[in-house]
Amino acid sequence: MNCADGRRNVRHGGAEAMGLNHHVRGSQMSQSDSVDEDVQAFLPDQDQLHTYDDLTKVNPVTPTTVLKCLQARYRMKVFYTHAGCTLVALNPFQSIPDLYSLDVMKEYHCAPQPQEFKPHIFIVAEKAYRNVRSQLEPVDQSLVVSGESGAGKTWTSRCLMKYYATVAASSSVLKSQNTVKRIERRVLDSNSLMEPFGNACTLRNHNSSRFGKYIQLQLDRCQLLVGASVQTYLLEKTRVSCQPANERNFHIFYQMWNGGTDEQKKQWMMSHDQCFKWLPNSEVLIEEDCFQDTVEAMDHLGINAEKQQQIFRILAGILHLGNLGFSSSVDESQPCNLDEKAKGTV
Ligand SMILES: Nc1ncnc2c1ncn2[C@@H]1O[C@H](COP(=O)(O)OP(=O)(O)O)[C@@H](O)[C@H]1O
Ligand SMILES: [Mg+2]
Repeated sequence: MNCADGRRNVRHGGAEAMGLNHHVRGSQMSQSDSVDEDVQAFLPDQDQLHTYDDLTKVNPVTPTTVLKCLQARYRMKVFYTHAGCTLVALNPFQSIPDLYSLDVMKEYHCAPQPQEFKPHIFIVAEKAYRNVRSQLEPVDQSLVVSGESGAGKTWTSRCLMKYYATVAASSSVLKSQNTVKRIERRVLDSNSLMEPFGNACTLRNHNSSRFGKYIQLQLDRCQLLVGASVQTYLLEKTRVSCQPANERNFHIFYQMWNGGTDEQKKQWMMSHDQCFKWLPNSEVLIEEDCFQDTVEAMDHLGINAEKQQQIFRILAGILHLGNLGFSSSVDESQPCNLDEKAKGTV
């Protein structure tokens, strides 16, 4: 009986739901008709679309109106737009002169009301900086940079770091300036070191970070930069042994392959005629393939020559490991055999 009741209820519920759907659909259609009209009323003013510097002012807020505004601003080479307390950053994919210069940083930093200036990443940076300062007890601030691959997150994080390295150094105390410069150098060097090991060329971004990063900048009570720490998480480790079609492994392997000296390559047992399975698309060269930059960053961060050699030998070993092949054994209870060719690799 329960079962029958249950079934009846289900059928009943289903029918009701269908009726409801029908009803909702009807009202949605008339709603969407009126939204369409609003959108049409909003859009003909094409010349004005780029003037909306806050997406909350767009009316009605629909994907079409928001995207049209962003598109109009992009055409006018305006790459930042507020969306309430969030900032939308579009990737210009080209260098924009004077957008991030020292003078612009100072302008935003010194302005009594920076939010009255054009939307910019420096407004967000400055607001967080002032929030730390304005409290009786300093309150930690976080800036979250999110977006799809290639959107410009790494670029934006670098801009933020440069901004704080500039504004959080006392101009009057030379010692403090030196400390800040040293911290800035180390944070930027840590980038130059983490990127070859954690970035790869993908279909969307030739320098795609395959890991997340939490950068902590520490300020003293006078708002001066006194320290920094970087934590990484969720590295896409599987890329070492399995690269999607038309993408590459982590940059470091290509840097070694292209930039290692003959002497080093001998140590790593890499000869020119060798082919590494885990080094696909090695003919694609990108500007990030600079082995010397990585070695310099290691030097600056205190990784000595001996440690460096150990690291590179391990990496070379990983590439050799990728060339191992196995043949399945006849008897399933027995281990697989190494391919004849792979014995040399071992
Ligand atoms: N604000 C910007 N100005 C100029 N070029 C940029 C800007 N943001 C990103 N780019 C370009 O876009 C590329 C991808 O950006 P990136 O920060 O690496 O993306 P993500 O970290 O989100 O994957 C960069 O290598 C750089 O060439
Ligand atoms: Mg990135």
